[in-house]
Amino acid sequence: MEVIIQPTDEAAAALVARVVSHDLRANPHLVLGLATGKTMERVYRQLVRFHKDRKLDFSLCRTFNLDEYVGLFPSDPNSYRHYMEQHLFRQVNIEPRNIHLPNGLATDLDEECRRYEALIQRFGGIDLQLLGIGRAGHIGFNEPLSALRSRTRVKALTPTTIQQNASFFGGEGNVPRRAITMGVGTIIEARRCVLLATGDSKADVIAQAVEGPITSMVTASALQLHPRCTVVVDEAAAGKLKERDYYRWIFDNEPEWEEYR
Ligand code: F6R
Repeated sequence: MEVIIQPTDEAAAALVARVVSHDLRANPHLVLGLATGKTMERVYRQLVRFHKDRKLDFSLCRTFNLDEYVGLFPSDPNSYRHYMEQHLFRQVNIEPRNIHLPNGLATDLDEECRRYEALIQRFGGIDLQLLGIGRAGHIGFNEPLSALRSRTRVKALTPTTIQQNASFFGGEGNVPRRAITMGVGTIIEARRCVLLATGDSKADVIAQAVEGPITSMVTASALQLHPRCTVVVDEAAAGKLKERDYYRWIFDNEPEWEEYR
């Protein structure tokens, strides 16, 4: 795991967008794993800018989203499909047939989860997986106690997550209780993972995920097992990390990051 600390949330998101841009230019057929949420909005804004100003080409890129709520229509403003259309898909030249999200309306949800896993395999696995982190430490919707080898499945959301997302739904009572999510095992099979966290509300959970023990209570901690995982944070989200100076030293000296400094 590497940790990159950037001065602001904007700079942290810009760095993540540059990683995506770099990998997409290197491999136009990139299989890109996508996350939703407030934190990612800045990343998508930057990618849209790259597409418009620097001709970043998404025409051959294939995408797989981490998760989707159960029971929401794609047209529902709170569905992750709608979020992605709004923040990225409609604003870049991605082919609709290359876009994949779990179908939270499937009549057989278990079958839908198996289909999604098989589809990821059929595309050769995920090259670059973008991740946010919930205040309960989740990646995707892998809530506390999710098995670290779990695969795509239906998960019940925890009260913390329901609370965290309540404002989007106009109150906790309206938040769906379940979602389909890639499993922790699915996520850590991606060839590269980049997790972005910003703001002081994420400082505690980032310290646990990065410097704490690997535990299913904080599913992001499973990323410590990943051979190529980068955690990008702003100063606020880095606030509780003990080894900040060490992470800065690595970023300043590692040749791979030269073009990002
Ligand atoms: C959503 C997802 C979640 C979010 C996380 C952070 O697709 O995978 O794990 O990334 O809940 O959400 P924000 O950025 O809204 O704090």
